Order: sequence, then structure tokens, then C-alpha cells
Amino acid sequence: MSESGEAKTSAAEVDYEHLAAPEPNGEVSGIWPLTAQRADDGALTIGGVSVAQIASDFGTPVYVIDEVDFRTRAAAWKRAMDEAFADLAGADVYYACKAFASVGVCGWALEEGLRLDACSEGEMRTAFGAGAKGEQIGLHGNNKSRREIEMAIDNGVAHLVVDSLAELAHVADVAHWGDDGGTVAKVVLRVTAGIHAGGHEAISTGHEDQKFGLSIASGAAWEAICETQRNQRLELVGLHSHIGSQIFTPEAFSQAARALLDLRARTAAEFGVVLPEIDFGGGYGVRYTAADPVAPAPADYARALAAAVREHVEASGLAAPRVSIEPGRSIVAPAGVTVYSVGAIKDVPLEGGKSRKYVAVDGGMSDNIRTALYDAAYTAALANRESDAPSAVTRVVGKHCESGDIVVRDVALPEDIAFGDILAVPVTGAYGRSMASNYNMLPRPGVLAVREGKAHWLIYQEEVPDLLSLDADYIGE
Ligand code: LLP
Repeated sequence: MSESGEAKTSAAEVDYEHLAAPEPNGEVSGIWPLTAQRADDGALTIGGVSVAQIASDFGTPVYVIDEVDFRTRAAAWKRAMDEAFADLAGADVYYACKAFASVGVCGWALEEGLRLDACSEGEMRTAFGAGAKGEQIGLHGNNKSRREIEMAIDNGVAHLVVDSLAELAHVADVAHWGDDGGTVAKVVLRVTAGIHAGGHEAISTGHEDQKFGLSIASGAAWEAICETQRNQRLELVGLHSHIGSQIFTPEAFSQAARALLDLRARTAAEFGVVLPEIDFGGGYGVRYTAADPVAPAPADYARALAAAVREHVEASGLAAPRVSIEPGRSIVAPAGVTVYSVGAIKDVPLEGGKSRKYVAVDGGMSDNIRTALYDAAYTAALANRESDAPSAVTRVVGKHCESGDIVVRDVALPEDIAFGDILAVPVTGAYGRSMASNYNMLPRPGVLAVREGKAHWLIYQEEVPDLLSLDADYIGE
């Protein structure tokens, strides 16, 4: 199944209509970063920096992040939530570091007034490295280590989101053995509301038969709530749900919100405890190609959530909760572009007398696993020049040793594309570098920030010696 839930097309039945990348001409296509443009010579620029110049100064493959785009999207979420919840109890936006974390981007998120959602020691330490205080960080994960739980409790994170009954016991145990001879852990429970929304099966999370959360339907969520009321080491401060990824329908979030708010009302009725927080997670959709719809604006999602909260407040008479959300992809995906050099090219005949041009680039599934893993669709554009040549149906592939190593399954590119050309693949800012691997001992590409004509590293380019430095010496027999 593809990300959009459609069956894979065979080679001969590709929908050619939406194959070309909309041009980065300054209009908001939702696909290119906000500052992307074609310069007079036809070359692509981002943040005022020529992509061809980046390729020659820094090498390829390389990820490029438009700082203005990232900050604009982060600020738009912050403003939308502040406005929608102004007459309720306010809202916080946590940037989901899993989409892409570096000290630099975490710093931008904090400067735009966001908090940071981490799900590992590494992400928490990146957040601390950017200057975040404990109360600006939330910790997630379905199997946190003792060390991660300790780090979260010791630093007073805003949010320790507990995923299971087993983990609740684990957290109570860690809280009990704190340095000061015992402390109370403030926890948020992640519950699943039985909602199946979003893209590929592997990234849906709100339905029942998957590893995340405490199911409302099975009674596990209620059992966990009761446990927090019995255990003096635990203070229940809120409920959380994350229903999946690539969701374009604000109603799916309102539906989940209603289920969470019903549980909040039940907790108040049963225990007299009015939970102060509710977190609706991330998963807001982005447009990867022209075939995708234009994504709803942050304000559309924010208003849908606020309407559900307002309805609950009016019906239950309870005080409004402070609300939080955790967008990752919708902040960083469109800010990022991967820049490759074109290498080997070959034409492969298809049925019906057609052919497909295979363009191999100097990266592949190690820097973007999403095409292979989720059958994700991307587009691409020639970045170092424009061309009037007719377009050819092209597949952009990597340099790895397997046929599934595809970066862009189908795209219309000028047929005069040649060895040494520079290719830009947009919307790779989320889950590109953060899911990159060293398959075939390829060093992971670095990440450059561009802004106002300048480029600087956010994450340095890895080199082969970095990989070899972890390889233990041969010790013989
Ligand atoms: N909060 C929680 C608890 C999450 O699990 C996630 C994503 C997010 C927030 C952020 O979701 P976003 O707004 O970025 O969609 N590797 C997959 C995506 C996996 C997402 C996992 N959780 C992909 O490349 O599509």
C-alpha cells in the first residue's frame, strides 16, 4: 500500500499528470521551501544561496534546510493555537524532534516560542544542548529506559507520557528511588481512541491492534487512571493521544479529542480530579507532490480542536484544560530539500514501446528510506539549470545494492538530464536525516541551514573514517 492507501501502480499505468515538480517561483506550492526561487540563469536558490554553489562548496548528497521556512511554519502553529485557545486555558506547541533534531533547529523552535517533544535520551540531550529547560520538554516512547525516565524526572520535564501499565509501574519505581529519597512523578497517559487515520499502516497509531498507548475500548486506559489514583508516587496530570501521521482531516483530531475529553470527564466524576492537561499529538499532513491535496492550515486544525474542547467544557461544566500538540513533519518537512549529483543514466524499455529513464544519484535509501519503507511519493527538479528539452518519465534511484533503492518512483524530468547535473528533491526535511542509515557503509549526509545568502552546517557531513572509527580492531584467532 502506498502512503495514500492506494495500491502500487505497475510500470505501465503510472498517472503522468502530476509528475513534474511545481516550479519554485516564489508562490506557495506547499512543496518547495518558502524562499526557493529560480535565479535569472535558471538555477535553483534557497535562502538566497545557489543550490549548485552548495553542491560545489559542500559536496553532495546534502540536506538543505530553509531557516525562514522552518521558523514561519513553527510560528504559524504557535499563533494558530494561541488564537484558537485564547478564550480557553491556552495551548503549547511541542516540536516533535523525531522528525528532525539538531541543536540548531531545536534552538529555532524555542526562539519561536515552541517546546520540544523528545522520545529518547539523544533527543532530550539535543533539546538541552539548544538551551531547553526541563519544563520546555516532553518525553515520549513506548519502552523508555530507566536512564531516560530518571533524566526526565531529575530535570522536571513538563510531560512524562506513559504508554502502558508496565511502564506506569516502572516510572513509579524510578520516582521512588530518586536521589532525594523519593519523589512524585507527574505523568500523562497516552491512550488510544480506536481511530484509524492517516497514511501508511506502519505510521497509523490510533487504532487498536498496534503497540502504542492504553486502549480506551479494552479498559486499559481506565485501569491506568485508577492506578495513578492509588499510587502515591504518581500524579496524573493529563491525557494524550497521537492518532497517526499524514492526516489531512481536522475532523479526525476532533473525534480523538472527544474520546479523550470524555475520559477526562469520567475521571472528574469518579475521582474528583480535573486533569489540567490534554495533548492531541502530531500527525498533521504535508504535500509531497502535486498529486497530494494542499494541506489544511494550522488554524484549521487548531479551530477544530478548540471547538471540541469548548463543547466539552460547556457540557461538563469542568474547567478548560491546557492543550498541547506535537507537530513535527508539518514544521520541518517542506523546509528541507535533498541535493544530489546525477551519475549513471540508463533507459529501460517498458511494455507498450515506452521506456523509463533511470537516473542514479549519489545517495539513495540510506538518506531517504521513506520511498522504500512506505512507498512514499516524492518529486524532483533539475537544480543547476533550466531546460527546454521535452520531459521524460524518469525514476530517480540511489547507489545501494538493491532494486528497491528508489528515491523518486516517477517524475517528469527534462530528457537532456546528464551526468554531473544537480538534482533537488523537495519535502525531505522530516524523517529523512532522522531515519538515515549507513547502509553499504555510506556516510550520512550533513545538514546545511540556509538564510539570507549564507549557508552553515547544522549537522556535519559524516566521513568514512567516522564510520571506521567505531570498527573494533581485528584481533585474529
Ligand atoms: N507525537 C508523537 C507521540 C508521535 O509518535 C509522532 C510521530 C509525532 C508527535 C509527530 O508526528 P508528525 O507531526 O511528524 O507526523 N517515520 C514516519 C513517521 C513516523 C511518525 C512517528 N510518530 C514517516 O516518515 O512518515
